[in-house]
Amino acid sequence: MKNLLVLGVTGSIAAYKAAELTSQLRQHGVEVRVMMTESATHLVAPQTFLTLSKSPVTVSLWDSPSWQPRHIELALETKVLLIAPATANILAKMAHGIADDSLSTFYLSHEGTVIVAPAMNPRMWRHPATQENVRILKERGVRFVGPAEGRVACGEAGVGRMSEVSEILSAALSAMSEE
Ligand SMILES: Cc1cc2nc3c(=O)[nH]c(=O)nc-3n(C[C@H](O)[C@H](O)[C@H](O)COP(=O)(O)O)c2cc1C
Repeated sequence: MKNLLVLGVTGSIAAYKAAELTSQLRQHGVEVRVMMTESATHLVAPQTFLTLSKSPVTVSLWDSPSWQPRHIELALETKVLLIAPATANILAKMAHGIADDSLSTFYLSHEGTVIVAPAMNPRMWRHPATQENVRILKERGVRFVGPAEGRVACGEAGVGRMSEVSEILSAALSAMSEE
C-alpha cells in the first residue's frame, strides 16, 4: 500500500515555506519524506525538515542507509510527489528526463501523482524555455499549483510567486485521498 508523500524542496528562496508545509501535512496525518536538492540546503537546513517530518531527509543520491538506493526504495511506497517550491531548473530537468541528483532521479522512478508549485522570478517564469517545459509537463499529467501573481522576494512584481501554503496543502491532501 502506497501511503507516503515525498516533498521535494528545491533551491528557491521560497524554500522556507516548505517547512510550514511539512508541519501542516504532518498535522493532517500525512506521512512525509523530504528530499532536498543541494541548492535548497543553502537556504534551509535539512535538520529543520528532519525535525518537522520526524523522518530522515534525503539530499545526496549516495547517502542511502540500506542496500537499496533511497530513490528506488521510496518510490515503492510513495503515492504523491509534491515539489514545493519548484525551481525553473527542476522543471527543466523533469521535462527532459535528466536524473543527476536524488530528487530528479526519484521523479523518474515514481509512478504516482506529481504536483509542482513553481516559484521563481517573473522573467524566469516567462522565459520560453520555462514555458515550453511547463507545457511538456502538463501534457504528461503533472499538476501545477500556481505560480501566483504578486511581488517576489527580489522586489519585482509579476507571475512567479509560490502559491499560498494552504492552496498547495489542499492539492496535496486531495491527491492523497484519491483512490
Ligand atoms: C538566494 C537565491 C534564491 C534563488 N531563488 C530561486 C527561485 O525562487 N526560483 C528559481 O527557479 N531559482 C532560484 N535560484 C536559482 C537556483 O537556486 C539555481 O537555478 C539552482 O541551480 C537550482 O537548483 P535545484 O533546482 O537543483 O534546486 C535562487 C538562487 C539563489 C542564490
